[in-house]
Amino acid sequence: MIPRVKGTDDILPPESARWRALLRGFDDLAARYGYDLAVMPVLESTELFSRGVGAGTDVVEKQMYTFEDQGGRSVTLRPEFTAGIVRAYLESGGTGVMKLAAAGPQFRYEQPQKGRRRQFYQVDLECVGDPDSRADVEIIEMSHRLLTELGVPGVTLQLNSIGDAADRSQYRDLLRDYLRGVAGELSPDSRRRIDDNPLRVLDSKADAALVAAAPVPLDHLGPETAAHFAAVRAGLEEAGIAYEIAPRLVRGLDYYNRTVFEFYSTAFEAAQSALGGGGRYDPLAELVGSRVPVAGVGVALGCDRIVAAMPEPAPPRLDLFVAVATPVRSGAAGAWVRSLRASGHRVDWTGGDRSLKAQFKAADRSGAAVVAIVGDEWDAGQVRLKRLATGEEAAVDIEEVGAWLNR
Ligand code: HAM
Repeated sequence: MIPRVKGTDDILPPESARWRALLRGFDDLAARYGYDLAVMPVLESTELFSRGVGAGTDVVEKQMYTFEDQGGRSVTLRPEFTAGIVRAYLESGGTGVMKLAAAGPQFRYEQPQKGRRRQFYQVDLECVGDPDSRADVEIIEMSHRLLTELGVPGVTLQLNSIGDAADRSQYRDLLRDYLRGVAGELSPDSRRRIDDNPLRVLDSKADAALVAAAPVPLDHLGPETAAHFAAVRAGLEEAGIAYEIAPRLVRGLDYYNRTVFEFYSTAFEAAQSALGGGGRYDPLAELVGSRVPVAGVGVALGCDRIVAAMPEPAPPRLDLFVAVATPVRSGAAGAWVRSLRASGHRVDWTGGDRSLKAQFKAADRSGAAVVAIVGDEWDAGQVRLKRLATGEEAAVDIEEVGAWLNR
């Protein structure tokens, strides 16, 4: 037996039913908001991430699966979607606004634990080319809607603005001065960051008590970024989405400016427990080589964590299981199964040549909501339906079965 690689998972039934509900819910949501599908490479040039995500971030410094391919190029298994999507936008000659949805595996070499995998999955939404605060609101609203529609309980949203580069240059000096004052007590990681990336010290768990009194970006926004953030907040309030201001939320990737946010749920608690996060990334396009600025805002939600927070059981896998009481009607039953599937119902059967008892066992295991028994009533144009959860039974005209299932 060759076991799976550490930090990877096989996602099989019954758990995969919740994955399917998540992926379908995401696909449907993206279509409702006008986000087109982007199918992205898993392999990208290493430079895309070192420049886009930032050479000093944990992701780039410690977590990337990077190797040289046989042509001598340094390539990396994507640790996230955003840099690749902005690259694709630029490479396609992108102008204007492109609203994209992507789903798939990401790779980060982390210490595996609950909700922290080396191969994990994200559903991702990116609105590239739109500087307006309405785009920030739309991205947050969609994330919130997806989590709510999937039944994730106790969803909370943490929101912050980290300003623009111009706001931050002054603020960074203030923060450095503060951090130098307490440097002797900071963890080695945070001490190292004072010079190259002081903002990251703000979300250091090890130094939470010390940074509680540090100056925060939100108190040092310029007038334009402050107005943008006020508009995001107003938009969220209009959409009825509650949020908490989290002044020390800065996120672990370097491309962000202005709005940043994270979602949590009471049903998922772990050392790292964000179900998803994102923000505005107006600097990213230029970081990866664009000569012109391209605004953008997006989110990635972690599927592994969402599924862990989703209620069990998943909705029934099948609308109908067809059992055949009289084997001579197997052929007719098979044709009926085919026509129900063709008209969009989720239907299964075992072929009808087993005992009725065995077929009912299979129906139970199948997770179907309803069993149809094809028996003597068939000649009168009817089948007997039984709703498994309640035991409710009825003889129903074959043409009426679709409507009965939708009740
Ligand atoms: P991120 O915060 O690095 O952001 O990841 C987003 C989500 O992916 C996390 O909140 C978490 O649910 C999940 N996640 C991250 N690492 C792991 C892991 N090792 N195991 C399981 N789940 C994980 C981004 O990736 C940005 N690209 C988000 C974004 C999109 N910003 C703008 N657009």
